[in-house]
Amino acid sequence: MDDVTDTVFRQIIAGCAKPNLFFTEFVNVDGLQSPGKSKLVHKLKFSKQEQPIFAQIWGKNPDNYYKTVQELVKIGFAGVDINMGCPDKSVVKNGCCSALINNRELAQEIIEATKRAADGQIPVSVKIRTGFDQVDFSWPEFILNQGIDMLTVHGRTTKEMSKLPARWQDIAKVRQIRDKIAPQTLLVGNGDVLSRQQGEQLAKQHKLDGIMIGRGIFNDPYIFAKKDIWLDVSTKEKLELYKKHIKLFKSTWQPGDRQNFEGLKKFAKMYINGFKGASKLRGEFVRQQTLGEMLKILKDYQA
Ligand SMILES: Cc1cc2nc3c(=O)[nH]c(=O)nc-3n(C[C@H](O)[C@H](O)[C@H](O)COP(=O)(O)O)c2cc1C
Repeated sequence: MDDVTDTVFRQIIAGCAKPNLFFTEFVNVDGLQSPGKSKLVHKLKFSKQEQPIFAQIWGKNPDNYYKTVQELVKIGFAGVDINMGCPDKSVVKNGCCSALINNRELAQEIIEATKRAADGQIPVSVKIRTGFDQVDFSWPEFILNQGIDMLTVHGRTTKEMSKLPARWQDIAKVRQIRDKIAPQTLLVGNGDVLSRQQGEQLAKQHKLDGIMIGRGIFNDPYIFAKKDIWLDVSTKEKLELYKKHIKLFKSTWQPGDRQNFEGLKKFAKMYINGFKGASKLRGEFVRQQTLGEMLKILKDYQA
């Protein structure tokens, strides 16, 4: 997830309970192939502990997909995922991501360029929504006809953003289409999954190959564990984990690499939660102006 699941957070998650597959934040191939590249490369940073990890890319120009994917193979990514699902207005108005539903010729060229560059060395996957204004099964059918290795389906349309609950029955219908026209393509469902157990139940019920979890990670860094762990983690351990996260952030990013250290405060709701006085401590924590001050607040707290 953009500006959330950087290498630092993924390493924290890998240390708690690792998923079978990680994805990077989405990164724009047109930017990567421009003089502005240095502003984006931090999104492609990963450590060994995060393997297997797919780089997630988006953009407009098939040549830039081709060049970028050749680089991703060399860097050592386990696979590449093309984002054709993001509904954000800023990307859709430029004809990118989920807007490709309405430009299938370009979607096909992008997949073709990506496959050519991957050259069978790494798998190619695509992430989509179920339609633009309304559910349109001709879209997943079109993508499944492109000979890709994996398809992730988010059970909402572009127009719905995240406003309505994800429709798993639509994902199940895509699975039926997959069974008929592309049985070799793995199918992954996505939307509103808040625990591994819930994900496994949905995968079983709808005969899916996998489940992608997004926002659920904001509540529970152990979400990929086989049993519930986070509820039993003590306040002291939660704060220790937050300190570890901040210290790793500090040692990983140089000032300017990733300006957004404020983004670290997004995790306060997860780590500083579930104990008496949490809300007051969170309030104090988010007012701090430096990483050092943030660490001090956590260190000084008597759990
Ligand atoms: C802050 C934020 C950033 C996101 N960034 C990405 C992204 O870079 N790539 C992507 O495929 N999806 C991204 N998503 C969408 C999620 O991956 C996921 O598809 C969506 O939130 C629905 O699944 P969930 O209910 O498990 O979160 C993002 C979502 C949020 C809230």
